[in-house]
This record gives sequence, structure tokens and C-alpha cells, in this order.
Amino acid sequence: MALVNSKEMFRKAYEGGYAIGAFNVNNMEIIQGIVEGAQEEKAPLILQVSAGARKYANHTYLMKLIEAAVETSGLDIVVHLDHGPDFETCKNCIDGGFTSVMIDGSHLPFEENIKLTRRVVEYAHDKGVTVEGELGRLAGVEDDIKVSQEDSSYTRPEEVEEFVTKTGVDSLAIAIGTSHGAFKFKGEPKLRFDILEEVERRLPQFPIVLHGASSVIPEYVDMINKYGGKMDNARGVPEEMLRKAASMAVCKINIDSDLRLAFTGVIRKHFAEHPDHFDPRQYLSEARTALKDMVRHKIVHVLGCNGKG
Ligand code: G3H
Ligand code: 13P
Ligand code: ZN
Repeated sequence: MALVNSKEMFRKAYEGGYAIGAFNVNNMEIIQGIVEGAQEEKAPLILQVSAGARKYANHTYLMKLIEAAVETSGLDIVVHLDHGPDFETCKNCIDGGFTSVMIDGSHLPFEENIKLTRRVVEYAHDKGVTVEGELGRLAGVEDDIKVSQEDSSYTRPEEVEEFVTKTGVDSLAIAIGTSHGAFKFKGEPKLRFDILEEVERRLPQFPIVLHGASSVIPEYVDMINKYGGKMDNARGVPEEMLRKAASMAVCKINIDSDLRLAFTGVIRKHFAEHPDHFDPRQYLSEARTALKDMVRHKIVHVLGCNGKG
């Protein structure tokens, strides 16, 4: 199998009423855990790399690990730049073998977002790379940028046709109330499905992306808290809401925080139970298995893409 762009994967996901998981990767154990989970469920897979991940692990190291994942798993995998901050970063990723990029112009005025996104699309399409754009702004933390609740904004459905037509993007991330990180809702979780429905009506058959879509699974928050952590009031998007979105126009669901919580929770527990351990393989292998189980759970119970790979 191969590294592929997202075109065919999204077409099938749209028609099939399911979504593909886009999981953030930062090191070998994270990649292996995710890929093993997808492999066991025979699921299509997007591995996404943020600017922070490239800085942390180095583009070439991540790319080689992902190539190894394709070779050993027999899966088609999309390697995607998450939250591309500028044209140069997108270009570097495209030139360096990524099959999909996001250009995140969501903080820019509408016309500037179009202009920047269009520039990336022209460069990317020339090389067979697909592009995700974004309209609307999520709250939460991504890389070094923190967006407060007040500075966040829902996507305006009346803008989506013009944006998609003028930019030529292959998919569109929208803001309907999800947010980045582990503290998503102060009160009751609420997503604006009316906005998603209106976007779907205006953009028939067009793949929509949900960022900030971790469910912040209580099992791992409790584990972190039990073993010395402090994550009070952590709260994520309920799984039934994500399932509903996946059955609609949402074809890509971004998950990072749930992986971080599982990885960290298991390592905290490991050290509490084995204070004498100091071989990284002992605790990293447990963390890797937790990621595999997490990804299998998402694929089967949230995304619905098991058996579609
Ligand atoms: O949306 C952001 C992702 O969770 C990636 O996070 O930028 O800290 O790597 P990061
Ligand atoms: P979470 O923080 O909800 O996992 O969102 C991840 C994300 O949107 C990556 O782009
Ligand atoms: Zn995101």
C-alpha cells in the first residue's frame, strides 16, 4: 500500500457516512500505537504532524517513521500537515513528501484567508497534494497559540461557498463549538449542528473537518488525577455527538488530546506501581498499547471506519 492524498478516502467516507481519524503524531511509539490500532481494525488512516511536532521530532525522522508504517502495515495512509501556519511551512511539507496539508488562515480576515489558501492550493495541486482550509475559529491551545473563548468564532455558513470556490480547497474545517485541548466546555457540551447542516446544504458532497474533537475520556483523566496529576474540570466532546457528525458531512475528525491523556495516564500509573523501573521500553510499550486500544475504540465506536481501509 502507499502514502496517498485524502481525495479518494474522503469520497468514500462521505458516501459511506463515516469519518476518518486524523491522529497527531510526535514520536515512534505514538506512530506505532496508532498504526497498530488502524491495522487491527482495517481502517483508513490520517497521521497528522503539527509545526510543533516537526520542531520536536524533525521532519525527516517523522517522515521515515511514517514510511515504515506504510511498509509494515499494508495500509494506505495520508500524511498531513496540521495547522500549517504559512505558505513556506506548507511548501516545505509538500516538497518533503506530505500528501496533504492544512493551511490555517482562520485568524485572518476573509479575503486574506482566501488569498493565502489559494496560493497553497495552487502549489499543492500541482504536486498531487490535497489541501484543507479553515473558516471560523476554535478556542483552546494549539502550538504556542492560545485562543480564548471570547476570540473564538463559529463558522459563518454564508461564507463557505465563496471560500471553497475561490480557493479550490479539497476539504474545509469548520468551528461549531469544539475546541482544542482537554478543557472544552465549562457547562454542558453543546455543538452547533445547525451550522453543520447549513454548511452541508450549501456544499453538497464536500468533506468537512472537525478539529478539537477529543472526548477527553474520563478513564484517563481519572488515572492522571489518581497518580499525582491535576486535571480537574477536563471535559471533551461526547462520543454520540461525534458519531452524529461522522454520519453527516464530517469526513475527518482530529484527535490529539485523547492520545496525550492515555499516554501520560499510563506512564504515571506505571511509575506509581513500579518505582524501580528505569528502562524506557517498560513504560513506553504500555503507553503504546494504550494508544492502540484508544485508536481501535475511536475507529469502531466514534468514526465508524472499521473495515474500510
Ligand atoms: O491542534 C493542535 C494539535 O493538538 C497539535 O498540538 O501544536 O501542540 O503539536 P501541537
Ligand atoms: P483535540 O485537542 O481535541 O485532540 O484536537 C486536536 C486537533 O484538532 C488537532 O488539529
Ligand atoms: Zn486542530
